[in-house]
Amino acid sequence: MAEDLNIHLGNKREQYEHLIPQIEGLLEGETDLTANLANICAALHEQFQWLWVGFYLVKGEELVLAPFQGPVACTRIRRGRGVCGTAWQEKKNLIVPDVEQFPGHIACSSRSRSEIVVPLIRHGQVVGVLDVDSETLAAFDETDQHFLENIVNMISI
Ligand code: SME
Repeated sequence: MAEDLNIHLGNKREQYEHLIPQIEGLLEGETDLTANLANICAALHEQFQWLWVGFYLVKGEELVLAPFQGPVACTRIRRGRGVCGTAWQEKKNLIVPDVEQFPGHIACSSRSRSEIVVPLIRHGQVVGVLDVDSETLAAFDETDQHFLENIVNMISI
């Protein structure tokens, strides 16, 4: 695999529809979790130019920073803390249109204005989360939720 990502400039749905087969191609035949998480972050970041795209993985009582693209970030998040820890505790996706309105939001970057978190759930347990931050208010909606869930479900853990 030595091809560049093919970037598509349509509406959001079209961008995801063009990107997802390429992500499938990146993951195909590779079983290493770090390698696959890293390429998913890179592909999403290159396509959408979001401020931050990354994973946190559950280790004991905390989420620990895993592959990401974007500014440096906090390394550990307790269960129930911030948007990520709340998504873990509640085992559900969270779309936050304005991070300043989310009680307990953890500001890893002062530039982040909105956020979406999609948990990775395996055998009923949250094993990690995909976290995406944007510099734009209300950047994320049900379309992102739908396609990011699809992407998270491609990951073998
Ligand atoms: N904002 C997140 C913390 C992670 S950073 O955005 C990368 C939260 O509140 O959980």
